[in-house]
Amino acid sequence: MRRTTGYLSPPDLQQQLKRELKNIICEYDRLIIAEGPPQTAHWAQNIWFDPQVISFTSISEAAKKLKEMQKLWSFYPYKNIRRGTLISEKLPYFSAKPIIFPSSIPKAPLGSWTLLDPNTLLASPLCSSSFAQGEVHFQESKVPPSRAYLKLWEALTRIGVIPKPDDVCLEVGASPGSWTWVLQQLGSKVIAVDRALLDPSVSSLPNVTCLKKDAFSLKPMDFPKLDWIFSDLICYPEKLLAWLNQWLEINAKINFVCTLKFQGEGDRDIIKEFEKIAGSHIVHLFHNKHELTWFKIAQE
Ligand SMILES: C[S@@+](CC[C@H](N)C(=O)[O-])C[C@H]1O[C@@H](n2cnc3c(N)ncnc32)[C@H](O)[C@@H]1O
Repeated sequence: MRRTTGYLSPPDLQQQLKRELKNIICEYDRLIIAEGPPQTAHWAQNIWFDPQVISFTSISEAAKKLKEMQKLWSFYPYKNIRRGTLISEKLPYFSAKPIIFPSSIPKAPLGSWTLLDPNTLLASPLCSSSFAQGEVHFQESKVPPSRAYLKLWEALTRIGVIPKPDDVCLEVGASPGSWTWVLQQLGSKVIAVDRALLDPSVSSLPNVTCLKKDAFSLKPMDFPKLDWIFSDLICYPEKLLAWLNQWLEINAKINFVCTLKFQGEGDRDIIKEFEKIAGSHIVHLFHNKHELTWFKIAQE
């Protein structure tokens, strides 16, 4: 039997994901099956390892076969959704309740399955994400000025490292201030840079210093003691990379979390340039839109 891997695309980003993948065999809406072992797939929200096609005759038999393979499962609704829901109800209870930031990633492996027709399921006992469909839901806050804080919460949860109290964080493209709020709440000292003003509810917080400046005018020599650089700048990734290179060259101890924003199709050449930076990773977060998140953690 030939080996395959499944790649679940975020909604509306199938084209970006398909451009990254080789040897695609078939698609089940957002789930793309390709031949061979897992490939690099930055745009995938969840990767299904070694999916198996399983025939069954009844709902009970489907649930039994899934339980024999693995304890916890999440149903990806593609076809025959009512029947799939009935099978799900016979599986051990899996709580997909929102997590509280900061939390660590759930350790229990979570399988994914779907129905291909009323009597055939496709199931992977092991997936890249331990969140159902790779969707990281948080108990939300109404305090920050925009919902962008969810992106940083998810990035830090995925990375598994958060800024320590008194870490010095330079954040560029900080307005209206949701990321600054996250960092300030963690006890860090934040230098928040934007051409626009931050919301006063954030700029007035202790340990927040705001600079109304062009981020690209900042130089490493002006910030000798940095622990982290965060960027959610709206700019070409090429321009961001050229700016980041100055900091990468001068101080190997800085941690980075940066959003890479794409205009159209997501430029594969510039993604490759970011990938070349040793010890760094590129992912598509559930809270990312048409963008990826690049990070590099010095403590790794
Ligand atoms: C998506 S918003 C950032 C939202 C922010 N992360 C938050 O949590 O509230 C992008 C910001 O980048 C800023 N920006 C774009 N180019 C800039 C530049 N060259 N220098 C400084 N800020 C810039 C914009 O003014 C905008 O406020």
